[in-house]
Amino acid sequence: MSARADLVAAARQAQARAYAPYSGFRVGCALESEDGRVFVGCNVENASFGLTMCAERVALGAAVAAGATEFRCAVIVTDAEEPARPCGACRQVLSEFSAGMEIVSVAGETTRRWSLDQLLPERFELRSAVHTGRNDGGS
Ligand code: THU
Repeated sequence: MSARADLVAAARQAQARAYAPYSGFRVGCALESEDGRVFVGCNVENASFGLTMCAERVALGAAVAAGATEFRCAVIVTDAEEPARPCGACRQVLSEFSAGMEIVSVAGETTRRWSLDQLLPERFELRSAVHTGRNDGGS
């Protein structure tokens, strides 16, 4: 089944704005919130490579800043040979808000989809530390 055309189009538009002079790997992401709004992001690289921001987290930041914190779906578009999987950091950051959301990845004519639960089983949750009382700074 193909991905929702409007979300793919939004992700592609964002991908066209990617700032990726170092890797040449351009990524676009369209994030749909539970209330039906769509937020986009692209990767933003930096000469200090570790400061690079992934498309998914750029989209998430835009969404949270606009007041959206629950998500149905993220559509990722790349020019890779096969649909790209979101990196581990993005999985964790998206799962903070909607651990069961759908992740769709499109590359050329090929689409893959997963649930975020499937891509990140056993995610880190801070409350496990809170509940054991080990979040008091050691005092
Ligand atoms: N990248 C993303 O935007 N999302 C991911 O999930 C993985 C990687 C970007 C970061 C960098 O600009 C480029 O892809 C190559 O790693």
